[in-house]
This record gives sequence, C-alpha cells and structure tokens, in this order.
Amino acid sequence: MISMSLGEPDFDTPSHIRRAAQRAIDNHWSHYGPVAGVASLREIIAEMSNPDAGICYQAEDVVVSVGAKMAIYNAIQTAVNADDEVIIPVPSWVSYSEMVKLAEGKVVTVKTRYEDDYCMTPEQFRAALNEKTRMVILCSPNNPTGSIYSKEQLRALANVLRDWPKVMVLSDEIYSALVYDGKATSMSEFDELADRLVVINGVSKAYAMTGYRIGWMLCKDRAFVAACTRLQGQQLTCATMVAQAAAEDALRASQTCVDKMRQEFAKRRELICKLAAEIPGWKFRKPQGAFYLFPDVSALGTGDEVAERLLEEAHVAVVSGAAFGCPECIRLSYAISTEEIKEAMKRIKAL
Ligand SMILES: Cc1ncc(COP(=O)(O)O)c(C=O)c1O
Repeated sequence: MISMSLGEPDFDTPSHIRRAAQRAIDNHWSHYGPVAGVASLREIIAEMSNPDAGICYQAEDVVVSVGAKMAIYNAIQTAVNADDEVIIPVPSWVSYSEMVKLAEGKVVTVKTRYEDDYCMTPEQFRAALNEKTRMVILCSPNNPTGSIYSKEQLRALANVLRDWPKVMVLSDEIYSALVYDGKATSMSEFDELADRLVVINGVSKAYAMTGYRIGWMLCKDRAFVAACTRLQGQQLTCATMVAQAAAEDALRASQTCVDKMRQEFAKRRELICKLAAEIPGWKFRKPQGAFYLFPDVSALGTGDEVAERLLEEAHVAVVSGAAFGCPECIRLSYAISTEEIKEAMKRIKAL
C-alpha cells in the first residue's frame, strides 16, 4: 500500500529545531506560559510576517495556538454568531465548514472552476455576499488544489470588499513557504483590510513540525485579538511551551532547511505532473504551491469511485475530492519519496 493521502511533509524535523526542543526541556520549560504565546516568539512571528509593503504587524497582534487549526477555530468562534454567513470557495480544506457549523454559522460555498485554476472570481464573490455575510475564508496556496491567487486576483477580491466593510477576511497562508514559482501574495499586502483581516500561519508545513502543533493568527484589531486570547485562555491556557521554544528556533535560525525541503517538493511536483499527464482520463492544473495534485477524474467516474478503485486494485490511497467539496476530483499528496511516487503512478497507469 502506498499512501498519497496525508497532508504532512514526510521529512524529519530539522535537527537544530529538535535540539531547541531538547534545550527547552532541560531548561525547565515545563510551566504554564502567557495565554497568547511567549513574547519573543510573538515578536519574531510579527517580524517574519510583515510584507515588504502593507500591514505592519507587532507582537501584540499575534496569538499563538495549538496549530493553525486551533487559530482558525478561535477566529471563527470569535467572529461568527448563529446564522452569520461565511463564504468558503470550494474545493477547500475540510475543516473550515465544520468549524463554521460548530459556531452555528451558515456555510455559503462558492464553487470555483477548473478554467479559473480553482480561484474565486470577483463576480462569484460579489454574488455570494449579502447583509448576513460575516466572513470569507481564503486559502492560498490552496489545499487541495495547490492553486495560488495572483496579486491582481486578490486585489480584485479586496476591491469587492470595499462595499462590505463589516465582512472579515480569514486568510489561511499555512502553505506560504511552499511555493514553487516565485512568491505568493499575502492578504496582508492590502493595508485597507488591516482592521478586518486575520492571517493564519504556522510551522507545521514549512518546517515539517506537524506534531509540535504550533500555529498562529495575526490581526490588527486589538479587540479581536483580546477576545481570541480570552477564548484561548479558557480552552488551552497556552500552547505547549516546549513546542513554542522549538517554533521560535525554527523561525530565528537559518531558513536553509525550508529551502531544501521546498526544492525536494519542487522535484516531486515535476515528476508527479509528468507521470500524471500520461494517465488517460485525468485532467489537472499544475499545482503552484503546497504538495497536492488535484486531478479531475470525471471521465472515469466520481472521485469516490476512482479513489475506491485505486485503493482496492492499485493499492494506492488517495482522498476523494468529495471531502473538499469537489466530487469529480481526487487529491494525491506528493509528500512521499520519488520512488513511491513513481511506483504509485505506475500502478495507477496500469489499471
Ligand atoms: C489549509 C490548511 N490549513 C490549516 C491546516 C492545519 O495546520 P496545523 O497543522 O498547523 O494545525 C492544514 C493542515 O492540513 C491545512 O491544510
């Protein structure tokens, strides 16, 4: 069985980061810490998140949580009241809609198109907005499609928001370090969104630290940050202190390890795209970031059927696009070795 279903890097956490965690244990980082995160970690997060031009974040704008997942959950719980609408372009990561439901909000999905590289257009966005809209959730680079919104595309969405000043933007940028051609634009480049933008990021994907569970939100609205911090105080007390020490080391140390992992993912991306192009009935966009391929397999059956067949007959585990709101696709993670990619694609092709 070859699993192409997981959403995490297959690399070991770099050794200098592991040593930082060990040092923290030896230095007795075994006590409760500040609810919003260790001050020096919040400082470096703010520093590293600041775009060349755009919103300027400070340590006070950061809340460190147990993974980006908890940061997203806190932001949604804080922003969304019963019956508030939240716009989610699909395909999308599985948890957004469930988190909105937990907050008793209403999910409004916008089905993006293959022809638009699975990016929501300003026209689609405008059509989905109304007086009940509380938030829009964007994810670029995207899981599951690997798409990236260009600066112009984000500018166009920001322009639409001018008519809707109460709508918050949650911009999940957890894959921002895994971009293969140039750099992804952050929503934080748009000054005018400062008081209603929540940017999400973390160490899971960039530094192969999924199990450390450190992620964060950045927001210039101090009342919102205070509310998220209060919520977190009752839920968590604080993110694990040893993991925060490791995350701080990851951000402060040389970023060569991130470059190396990105280069390896880039090679795998080329390989999987080349091999996938040889599979009859698959139609796909070359992913620009993250580590997923998201072919449309509707010529062969539904995503559920194809995923089932790949599992039963090729012994390759993939995820049906239905999980992401796109039942005509399947998602393959290329966070596995090149040998495994070759073997998996050989088996799929032979079916
Ligand atoms: C788009 C997206 N956002 C957030 C997360 C959660 O990341 P973390 O491990 O930091 O909680 C994931 C993890 O798969 C993801 O794919």
